[in-house]
Amino acid sequence: MPIPRKKFVAGNWKMNMTSSEVAPYLEIFNREIETVENVDITLIPSFTALAKASEILDGTQKIRLGAQNMSPESKGAFTGEISVTMLRDLFVRFVLVGHSERRRLFGETDEMARRKIITALATEIRPILCIGETLEERQAGQEKTVLEGQLRGALEGLSKDQIDEIIVAYEPVWAIGTGLTATPAQAQEAHHFIRAYLSKTWGPEVSSRSRILYGGSVTSDNARVLLEQPDIDGALVGGASLDPRGFAEIVAAAVPAE
Ligand code: 13P
Repeated sequence: MPIPRKKFVAGNWKMNMTSSEVAPYLEIFNREIETVENVDITLIPSFTALAKASEILDGTQKIRLGAQNMSPESKGAFTGEISVTMLRDLFVRFVLVGHSERRRLFGETDEMARRKIITALATEIRPILCIGETLEERQAGQEKTVLEGQLRGALEGLSKDQIDEIIVAYEPVWAIGTGLTATPAQAQEAHHFIRAYLSKTWGPEVSSRSRILYGGSVTSDNARVLLEQPDIDGALVGGASLDPRGFAEIVAAAVPAE
C-alpha cells in the first residue's frame, strides 16, 4: 500500500496585510488550529509580513512559512529582488514559482520558473510550481496542452530527487479571485492529468508521492469536496486565507477522516 499523501494547505496573502497585522492574525489562527493534526500548514505572506511572521513563529513546526517570489540569482546587483539566502535566513521552507499573477503581470516565463526552481532546490527551499490555463484556453479545449507545456517548460531535465521536493499547484487562471471555482470533477481531471505526466516522465513511485494542490476561489464552503478528490492533495488559498477563522476552517476540512 502506498503511504497516503499528507494534505498541504497554504495561504497566499498576496499583496495584503502589513507587518503590524501579523500578530493579531496569528493569535487567532493559532488558537483555531490548536487541535488540528496531520495537515501541513503554510503561510505565504508578503516579504515585510514574512519577516514579522518569522520572528513571531520562531521556527515552530506547526505553521511553516513560504515566500511569494524570489530571484533566480544568488546575490548581487539586482535592485528590488530577494534572494534565496535571505529567505533561508527567515526560516522560509517554500517558495511560489510561476504564479499566474507573476506570469501575466510581471512577465514570468516557464524558463524563469525553471531557474528559480533550480536555485531554490540548491538551498533546500521547496518550490511550489503554479500552473493553469486561462478561460480562452479552456474554452478552446487546450487546457491539457497548456498544463503539459508549463510542466515541461519548468521541470524538463530535473532528476527524480528534485521532483520529489517540488509541489505542483493547479490554479486555473479563470478561477483565481473570481469566485468561480473549478468543479471537483474538473479539478480532479486536471490533477489526474498532472500526476500522469509526472508518472510518464519520472515514474509511478515519484508521481504517487507528489503532492498536487488546487487553487482558485477555495473557501470554507467548497474546500471539503475539492479535498476529497483522489488526486487533490491540498489547497493554495488566496482571498479566503486573509481571515484567520475562515482559513482555519479550510485547514480543518483537510484533516483526514478517522
Ligand atoms: P483566490 O483564492 O483568491 O482565488 O486566489 C488563489 C491563488 O491565486 C492562490 O495562489
